[in-house]
Amino acid sequence: MLDKKINHPLHGKKNKSFCFSDATMVKVQKIIARYPEGRQKSALLPLLHIAQEEFEGYLSVDVMDYVAGLLNIQPIEVYEVATFYSQYYLDSVGKNVIEICRTGPCAICGGEKMQQYLEKRLNIKTGETTPDGLFTLKAVECLGACGSAPVMQINTEFYEFLTKEKIDQILDELTLKAKEEKPEKSLWKEKFF
Ligand code: FES
Repeated sequence: MLDKKINHPLHGKKNKSFCFSDATMVKVQKIIARYPEGRQKSALLPLLHIAQEEFEGYLSVDVMDYVAGLLNIQPIEVYEVATFYSQYYLDSVGKNVIEICRTGPCAICGGEKMQQYLEKRLNIKTGETTPDGLFTLKAVECLGACGSAPVMQINTEFYEFLTKEKIDQILDELTLKAKEEKPEKSLWKEKFF
């Protein structure tokens, strides 16, 4: 039906223009140049990480369309990737995005209890952000470290063999860093690309 209301998060965030800074564009062009002519789409994952960090901390439709234009691919190809991987955010998130693994091996080793503890400690439900904007809690599928279960990732860092005490220590450190205004967030574009 033509007049059916569209509620998808990708809808309704249009009409802004975006452009990477000159310094970032140099990095972006180097990444694209790694791939043979006609295979520039292979640069999509790193470009989305960079776009997410450079723009508003998440991938709006405008940002994804901009990346599609850079790679000369269809926007739908970008949407498909951005909606598949949990590391890409379609809405604004806190400074620290906690991704707790909810897949079988972690669940068996106490992952569910760790997720419940994170909710209690942060006083938010999974999917929410703390009122101070410091933490967003997400539950994700296997993070690829099943042998160290239970596992969570915060921004670019991995935390393994989680316990309540360990979670307390990690969150206390990140909260303290935020108070001291130390950069608590390492960037994908500095760390990996
Ligand atoms: S099941 Fe949690 S890291 Fe694989």
